Amino acid sequence: MPILRPEEHERMGMQHILFAKEEIERRKSAPVHVKAEDIDKQFREHHHVYIVDPRLGFNQRTFRFWINRLPPATEPRKKKLGHRHTVEAVIHMIKGRGYSVIDGQRYDWEAGDFLCVPVFAWHVHFPDESQEWVDVAATTGPFSMAMGIAIYEDERYPEHWVFAQKEPEAEKTLIPGGAEITAEESKAFQINMERWRSKTDKDARSPGSLYYGQVIYSQQEEVRRRQGRVLVKGKDLEFGSTAMGRLAYVVDPRLGFNVKLLSTLAAEIPPGKRSGAHRHVYEEVNYVLSGSGYSIIEDKKYEWKKGDVLVPPVFSWHQHFNTGKETARFLVHTSRVAMESTGYIHTQQGELADYE
Ligand SMILES: [Fe+2]
Ligand SMILES: [Fe+2]
Repeated sequence: MPILRPEEHERMGMQHILFAKEEIERRKSAPVHVKAEDIDKQFREHHHVYIVDPRLGFNQRTFRFWINRLPPATEPRKKKLGHRHTVEAVIHMIKGRGYSVIDGQRYDWEAGDFLCVPVFAWHVHFPDESQEWVDVAATTGPFSMAMGIAIYEDERYPEHWVFAQKEPEAEKTLIPGGAEITAEESKAFQINMERWRSKTDKDARSPGSLYYGQVIYSQQEEVRRRQGRVLVKGKDLEFGSTAMGRLAYVVDPRLGFNVKLLSTLAAEIPPGKRSGAHRHVYEEVNYVLSGSGYSIIEDKKYEWKKGDVLVPPVFSWHQHFNTGKETARFLVHTSRVAMESTGYIHTQQGELADYE
């Protein structure tokens, strides 16, 4: 290991002290508004456009946001397995219809629907090829990369697979490396481990039980991933009144989704009305699905319309005003769930929405 001089230890300690102030500067200097026309330009040459991503200068640590637009196909697309990844993904269908096969199950979807893909489940989409298909998605790649746990296995690049090539079982498990022992070995192992598992609440805190829980965690997690909800039909969204305005929670662990980082909701503002104002210690990306108006984000005004993207910096005040003639709808992805796990969550409500 390197042997440091006292002043170098001193300097490292000061980096901790200075981090928070510097982070405020990083938040302030990151882009806030992406205009639909700048997104559209890129679709002339490419079908998959990254919009909010730390590699594009956003101070985004947890998730990225991108749009996929595929024209009607001239020949059938050949796909079987698709791909899988150790990142969470929430996809919202904007145009088209079709179905997806996720972890071997078929889900039929149309414009307005949402898919929450279980972590490390193979998924492949089969849009109706006679029409254009547009979807927008948030995925937690930045978080997984920072943690060193991002694995993407894609049928187009089997030479880069990390686990799937090893044996058929490795292709089926949702736990990377989870199939490195056979099902029988795993069962025998679990029976052996059972003797440390206790039956009473008091024993549940014994070191034997606690360690048992740690060892079988991933097996239980695989079950949770398979039990989590996947498809949300747009027509089933339930909007309700909140201090921020009319919201519908789409993907949330409290609604039966096995997400640990991402949450998704939809927001509505009637013509001439304004949302509530708030700020919070989590990342948020808003995609304008319909309408036009402006937002006040911290001390600046941003005029937006359908197709724009707004990225309020972490802990900046934000409030939205609908100045158009139609209902404004936002698709909102946040890292609220991730921040709840850190305990460093803080949501501060300001002015209330002026509608119910
Ligand atoms: Fe994916
Ligand atoms: Fe917010």
